[in-house]
Amino acid sequence: MTTIRSTVDTRADEFAANREAMLEKLAEIDAEHAKAVAGGGEKYVERHRKRGKLLARERIELLLDEDSPFLELSPLAAWGSDYRVGASVITGIGVVEGVECLISASDPTVKGGASNPWTTKKSFRAADIAAQNRLPVINLVESGGADLPTQKEIFIPGGRIFRDLTRSSAAKVPTIALVFGNSTAGGAYLPGMSDYVVMVKERAKVFLGGPPLVKMATGEESDDESLGGAEMHARTSGLADYLAVDEEDAIRLGRGIIKRLNWTKQGPSPKPDYAEPLFDAEDLLGIVPTDLKIPFDPREVIARVVDGSDFDEFKPLYGPSLVTGWASIHGYPVGILANAQGVLFGEESQKAAQFIQLANQIDTPLVFLHNTTGYMVGKEYEQSGIIKHGALMINAVSNSKVPHLSVLMGASYGAGHYGMCGRAYDPRFLFAWPSAKSAVMGPAQLAGVLSIVARAAAASRGQEYSEENDAAMRAMVENQIEAESMPMFLSGMLYDDGIIDPRDTRTVLGMSLSAIHNGPVKGVEGGFGVFRM
Ligand code: COA
Repeated sequence: MTTIRSTVDTRADEFAANREAMLEKLAEIDAEHAKAVAGGGEKYVERHRKRGKLLARERIELLLDEDSPFLELSPLAAWGSDYRVGASVITGIGVVEGVECLISASDPTVKGGASNPWTTKKSFRAADIAAQNRLPVINLVESGGADLPTQKEIFIPGGRIFRDLTRSSAAKVPTIALVFGNSTAGGAYLPGMSDYVVMVKERAKVFLGGPPLVKMATGEESDDESLGGAEMHARTSGLADYLAVDEEDAIRLGRGIIKRLNWTKQGPSPKPDYAEPLFDAEDLLGIVPTDLKIPFDPREVIARVVDGSDFDEFKPLYGPSLVTGWASIHGYPVGILANAQGVLFGEESQKAAQFIQLANQIDTPLVFLHNTTGYMVGKEYEQSGIIKHGALMINAVSNSKVPHLSVLMGASYGAGHYGMCGRAYDPRFLFAWPSAKSAVMGPAQLAGVLSIVARAAAASRGQEYSEENDAAMRAMVENQIEAESMPMFLSGMLYDDGIIDPRDTRTVLGMSLSAIHNGPVKGVEGGFGVFRM
């Protein structure tokens, strides 16, 4: 039997306290999500509605198959910056006529839908997800183009958006633009580079330069409609393939286009008869201790995420601080690597490297469940080669070609974040729980290191070291690092694809795996780099 047996006591005080703390964090995150949903705020939403237009989220809702879910990506982008939470664009994966598509909708209630530096970063991430997972792209366009005051940060890198569209097309992954309003200047290349273009009558405006600019440039008198109206593009320029009478009609036409794509997924199909986990996902709220220094058993998480709570543990007696094993999620086979005791030792690293190779041998995606303080330090460990061992794991994860999924449950510190497939190691998707924290090391440790370095520097200069200043510096640094390690901050920086409710982990991973299987799922063919032994 490989079914996990749970020992979680849901009546224990500790469980109740953990659950309480997690619910508090979730409420804080929900409040930030609500800011993204509010777009540009009441005044601009009201104005938009008065113009008889649908909100960006309503457009998405109508586009998707009825009652199908939408996996929103990077909803907290720009959190903590000078820009609105959400970065004036909504991106995510949704099902249209049975096809999983990457949907991107500019939010015209936020600065006219103009792209600021965070909008660009969020759009790049969405484009990467579309390309890596072979997802058709649907752009719902109504945007003031580049945010003019920050043009220096977006103009040059922003060209990638149009390049990615045509590369998607070249890779035989269709792209569709539904134009609801303004799409001027560089923005004109959104429909310009798409395979299929729908424009809404009397609403879409697609021109390289509007009437004032044309007047300045050539002296010619013109108007919006003759320069870039939907009718003109449908009848005269040919840029519009379909003329929609209104927004609903544009959405209907968009769905019709997807229906005719004859889309087939290239990855293997999931097993249809999978079982639900034996344990309640609700328990996931009480498993992570409020103090991340206290370890928790990741098998309790796995038991609430995988099909039938069935987990075939690999090498259970060796390197016990990392749990590895085979399972399936929504019928998709996966290999799982999950931190148990926090620290990674040499044995754990070697076990991880072997396990990653095994997954590549059998073309099986990998799921990384993070709760690590990093690789073990100290004389004994340095002398036994912890760097080499960590390097084995980092080599394996870097060169592995099967799709990777990462979930930050708790700590994800130091090179442990790298070995466990952190953001820089290109996991197809990376989600964080509200309890997650990530940084080069813990705040107290980092402040302590700085203090030791400053003390030694003062001594070498023959200067006296002020204990008072030291205490103040440590407190300040600790606060700063604590704030910078928090999931909202990291999500705002686009270091994850979203903060999820732990109870949704199975659903989110299942949807991610389903999206991934639009492309082929293949392990390494050409081998890994040189494994340092
Ligand atoms: N950069 C920065 N801010 C912009 C912007 C842009 N490209 N486009 C619009 N905004 C701002 C406006 O200044 C306004 O800000 P405020 O509310 O703080 O005053 C807000 O967004 C809403 O704009 P508004 O013009 O009132 O909205 P609208 O719905 O009537 O019109 C546009 C929207 C996009 C048609 C219009 O704003 C426009 O033509 N913008 C310039 C488009 C352009 O030429 N872009 C070239 C970029 S390459």
